[in-house]
This record gives sequence, C-alpha cells and structure tokens, in this order.
Amino acid sequence: MAALPTYAPSTEPPLRIRDLGPADEPLLDQLHAALSPRSQYRRFHAAKPRLAPRERRYLAGTDGRDHVALVALDGAGAPVAVGRFVRLRGRPETADIAAEVADERQSQGIGSDLVRRLARRAAAVGVSRFTATVLSETGLRRSLVRRGWRVVDADGPSATLEIDVWALMRA
Ligand SMILES: CC(C)(COP(=O)(O)OP(=O)(O)OC[C@H]1O[C@@H](n2cnc3c(N)ncnc32)[C@H](O)[C@@H]1OP(=O)(O)O)[C@@H](O)C(=O)NCCC(=O)NCCS
Repeated sequence: MAALPTYAPSTEPPLRIRDLGPADEPLLDQLHAALSPRSQYRRFHAAKPRLAPRERRYLAGTDGRDHVALVALDGAGAPVAVGRFVRLRGRPETADIAAEVADERQSQGIGSDLVRRLARRAAAVGVSRFTATVLSETGLRRSLVRRGWRVVDADGPSATLEIDVWALMRA
C-alpha cells in the first residue's frame, strides 16, 4: 500500500494580486471589516471601526507612480490584504509603506509577499527607500529589524523604520 502523505494538501486557490484603484472603495470597506479592532488600531494607530469617506477616497486614489496599492483577492474575489506605498513630498526617492492583512490570513507570508512586490514596483518608478511607522508594542518593529530595516526615529509608542528597496527585492 502506498504511504499516505503526512501533510494536508492545500485546497485553497492561490490569491490573485492586482493594482487597487479608485473603483475599489468597496473592497477597502470589506477588508477593513475583516480586521479585528486590534489590527485596525495597529494599522491606523487609532481606534477605527470604519473608514471615513474622505479616508476611503484617499486610500483608493492611487496613481501608479506616487501612490501604488496592491490588493490580494481570494478565490471568491474577497479582499484578504492590501499593501501600499505613498511617495513622500520633498523626498521623492522615499515612500511610506503600509499594509493590512485580514486577521484570518495573518502570519501566512501574505504581507511579506506584498511588500516584496511593492519594492519591485517602487524601483520601477524611482523610489529607492521605504519608510514604515509601526507601533513598537506590536512586535512588528522587532520583526522588521530582524529583516534588515533600520530604526530612524522612535517617538513614544511608535517607531519609524527605513530600508532600501533593493534589499527587499533580494529577500
Ligand atoms: C503586519 C502585517 C501586515 C503582516 O502581514 P502578515 O501577512 O501577517 O505577515 P507575514 O506572514 O508576511 O510575516 C511578516 C512578519 O510579520 C510578523 N507578524 C505577522 N502577524 C503579526 C501581527 N499580528 N503582529 C505583529 N507581527 C506580526 C511575523 O511574525 C513576521 O515576522 P518574522 O518573520 O520576524 O516572524 C499583518 O499582520 C497585519 O495586517 N497586521 C495588522 C495591521 C498592521 O499592523 N499593519 C502594519 C502597520 S502599517
């Protein structure tokens, strides 16, 4: 008799990743609702049960150059993650990056994959450095430092880190 596999083969279809644009405001609400209050707080550094209309418009208002966002969709077309970078005014070679992954799908490598993809997109439009501001208490700061990010500012509960995008492209 053939040996049974000792792993459970994944039956989940792969995620589809595409650019997020102005028509995707409803997807942002859907993903926001899939974040726990704790994840919403970690993402926005404030309690945020729902996005305000202006915020939603801004977050969907990408332009493919100074503001790029990628959305990961599951097999049913539901959003499971969004990652974005926004070029800094006055420091056009640097962009601020942020991401959120639905709680159910966290710690599966989805966030890291989006960041790698964003790094490639950033390099193509002349962005050579990412910054990220994270709450120090979350452990994400430590995790980013382990991955080569440098702490450039630590202000009370949050810390700002930087990394060259080429380092992410190699990761
Ligand atoms: C932070 C976040 C985007 C990471 O995405 P992810 O797909 O869960 O992460 P990955 O599986 O790719 O793992 C990347 C690293 O993040 C860490 N991580 C994953 N989930 C985490 C969580 N909830 N809190 C803190 N760190 C977390 C992992 O430990 C891993 O670090 P390691 O390799 O040193 O162990 C995701 O957990 C999330 O949406 N959190 C809530 C919002 C947030 O904190 N956003 C970041 C600030 S903009």
